[in-house]
Amino acid sequence: MKRVLVTGANGQLGLAIKAATAAYPELSFVFTGKKELDVTSPQQIDAFFKANRFDYCINAAAYTNVDKAEEETAAAYALNENAPRLLAEACKQHNVFLIHISTDYVFDGTKGESYTTVDKPKPINVYGASKLAGEQALAAVGGDSCIVRTSWLYSEYGNNFQTKILEKAKTAPHLQVVSDLLGTPTYAPNLVVFLLNKINDSAFTSNVEHFSDGKTMSWHALAKRLTQIEIKEIASETLNLKAKRPKSTSLI
Ligand SMILES: NC(=O)c1ccc[n+]([C@@H]2O[C@H](COP(=O)([O-])OP(=O)(O)OC[C@H]3O[C@@H](n4cnc5c(N)ncnc54)[C@H](OP(=O)(O)O)[C@@H]3O)[C@@H](O)[C@H]2O)c1
Repeated sequence: MKRVLVTGANGQLGLAIKAATAAYPELSFVFTGKKELDVTSPQQIDAFFKANRFDYCINAAAYTNVDKAEEETAAAYALNENAPRLLAEACKQHNVFLIHISTDYVFDGTKGESYTTVDKPKPINVYGASKLAGEQALAAVGGDSCIVRTSWLYSEYGNNFQTKILEKAKTAPHLQVVSDLLGTPTYAPNLVVFLLNKINDSAFTSNVEHFSDGKTMSWHALAKRLTQIEIKEIASETLNLKAKRPKSTSLI
């Protein structure tokens, strides 16, 4: 039986993992939200790892509000850089394999084709920069860990593009969604299958991996897939978003 700790367990990815556990009888899970394990607290991490034994830790905790991160820079770095560093140190000390989730937003979106794991990251907003700093912190600590970059996660779990679109569609006659930003949307349960199968098969190696559903599209195209109501195209610049968005960040 492999023991798997999932941090940030009340977020979208954590909830999607929780929903999938029955399909993995050879894995035993411990789910912790911020209340059970604040991943920014060295004392809590230390005590938790001393009191419990794990084989894997999936770090699904993160600061994910891309626009707010432009102002709450310290909070974004505390969760996206310092927390992975603390978890990597604890995992190294206790022989736990750390699976850390990162993002397509580490790239600037100007490549003109899909990003591979050997492309050099160059974030253009605080969220992306803080996530890249987290990746670099893992590399600096060493130990057994895999960075899994994914993109445009959506699902019925937590708060995300799908849940927001479907909520708005209940009352709006039509919606406007940007059509000039491209990426590879990823249904969170598909990422979960990728992660848990790899744990089940002991197939993780210390590495950087990309996982997406593989089809490049705009937010507008994704919205059209998710709802029947009319979706009009708008340009991202008309929204005056606080954070710059990379134009095209498909992952392969
Ligand atoms: N969502 C996307 O489109 C997307 C795309 C690419 C990559 N990713 C990456 O995928 C991963 C999972 O994303 P997600 O969509 O599941 O994000 P999410 O729904 O925002 O979940 C993040 C979770 O972290 C928790 N958290 C916050 N502070 C914490 C703390 N101090 N200690 C422990 N937990 C804490 C949050 O709890 P509270 O809500 O209570 O603060 C939340 O439940 C992240 O690493 C993200 O960067 C996401």
